[in-house]
Amino acid sequence: MVKSYYSEPNSNPFGITEEEAAALRLDALYSRPSPLIVEPRDVEEMMGMNDVPEDALALYRRASTLRLSPWEKEAIRRSLQKGILHDIMVDKRAEAPYPDMVYLRVDCYVKAVQAPCVLEIWPGQHYSFLHEHSDSTGIVFALAGRVDAMVYKSLEWDAEKLGLISVDRGNAAWLNKDCFQVHRLYCPLPRDEYAATFHIYSHCKDEYFRYVDEKTHKIELFETKSDINWFDLIEKLEQETPRYRRADGLLV
Ligand SMILES: [Fe+2]
Repeated sequence: MVKSYYSEPNSNPFGITEEEAAALRLDALYSRPSPLIVEPRDVEEMMGMNDVPEDALALYRRASTLRLSPWEKEAIRRSLQKGILHDIMVDKRAEAPYPDMVYLRVDCYVKAVQAPCVLEIWPGQHYSFLHEHSDSTGIVFALAGRVDAMVYKSLEWDAEKLGLISVDRGNAAWLNKDCFQVHRLYCPLPRDEYAATFHIYSHCKDEYFRYVDEKTHKIELFETKSDINWFDLIEKLEQETPRYRRADGLLV
């Protein structure tokens, strides 16, 4: 019997086997341009980067120095276990078509709907629906953990899969209106871990993304509402996990 790519049978968002996953990773590796932006360290990585459009690279450069502090990473982890992020997840899981088909959106621009900068938090084994991005140019920059991204040729339930990439610290998936516009993200980490990704979008043509409904397989509109904004999140996290106090008294 062919073993599933996924560790848990209820969580197989890409619907592929290990062998298919390996073949799709090779497809991504040979793709020109590559769907993954990296700081190239060898010839193979350089080959994939050569044709990545300048507007996507500009967004990547904007994010490339971004970090979550040790306190921010730990406060998010604790909050997912027993704080505000846990409570939001419980509500979202109850409303989702499948409980694991949810993630958290933190508005990092102060715009509740279709914010151009969003921090997304992915508890392990959770995933998005198959969706597109309103012809925008965008990046998915990994700040913590890892998400896997499957890119598709078109927005339909049985769309052709173009490639599978893992996005981890310092790397980014990218898209624009001509390339990799349709994708699905999945956090393959264990359930008690999480990934955090920073998303920047430009040239977005409306307030909605389109997605494929997981049960009816019809295309629907998704209003990209955030669950909380960054300032409110930090205020809550500070109540849940005290900031670290340095020897000189400064809170970090
Ligand atoms: Fe997306």
